[in-house]
Amino acid sequence: MEKSSSVSAQRLAQRRGDYGFDAPSVVISSILVGLVMLVLGLLSLLRWRSRILGIIGLLYSVCSLLSGVSYIYTTRRGKFQVWAELLSSLHLCGDEQILDLGCGRGAVLLMAAAFLKEGKATGVDIWKSSDQSGNASSATWKNAEREGVAERVDLYTADMQQLPFANNSFDLVLSSLAIHNIPQRAGRYKALDEAVRVLKAGGRLIIADVFETQRYAEHLGELGMINVTHRMLDWRFWYGSPWFMTKLVKAAKPS
Ligand SMILES: C[S@@+](CC[C@H](N)C(=O)[O-])C[C@H]1O[C@@H](n2cnc3c(N)ncnc32)[C@H](O)[C@@H]1O
Repeated sequence: MEKSSSVSAQRLAQRRGDYGFDAPSVVISSILVGLVMLVLGLLSLLRWRSRILGIIGLLYSVCSLLSGVSYIYTTRRGKFQVWAELLSSLHLCGDEQILDLGCGRGAVLLMAAAFLKEGKATGVDIWKSSDQSGNASSATWKNAEREGVAERVDLYTADMQQLPFANNSFDLVLSSLAIHNIPQRAGRYKALDEAVRVLKAGGRLIIADVFETQRYAEHLGELGMINVTHRMLDWRFWYGSPWFMTKLVKAAKPS
């Protein structure tokens, strides 16, 4: 089958849908803290005549505001550019069965669907609006229509710790910034177990996430996955401070 990797990553990153903001409370608090510290820093310098407190306040404010700007850039632009490059590099044939764990409003799911001619891109989510603004399957369907891929998409309301799919169903399992939302480590490992279970032999798994990614890689190795790699993604996928840099874990299921 003809390869569809010729879809240009740059064109792919230009989305027509509306994908909301990831964990909106995080960016709102970062900007609010930045503004409060700006006011306190200025008051310390100009009114209370404390240079030290003023400088600390202003530095804190600049870091917090820059963090907020970086977060907004990543959630609205950067992550789309990075995923467009990642998906383009996979050289998909177009007949794959793809699964996106925690697809939200479809940022990655619908981009992956653009590579398909005969396959399906299936998204699974529990639609938490604290994890993504306006999160709902109806929003994802609307985006699928806007991107012109609705006929190649399926959505399921399901917890990624208990996937409603048979073993060996998917050629490619993706997950972007979703697994860390499961509160317990045992639950996050369960989601990885499920991802491996539903992958076909020879299938690939690609996870972008912010915390514990090295542990994900180790756990995948323990599950018998091969070619497990772990690396830092570039600044376009950083959610502000150094604690929120996104890492990439890749692995394959032995044939
Ligand atoms: C930050 S959003 C990312 C959404 C999407 N992957 C993206 O990159 O735009 C995290 C998503 O994970 C979903 N989620 C959280 N816990 C989940 C679980 N246990 N099972 C399925 N989805 C979950 C949330 O509802 C949310 O849509």
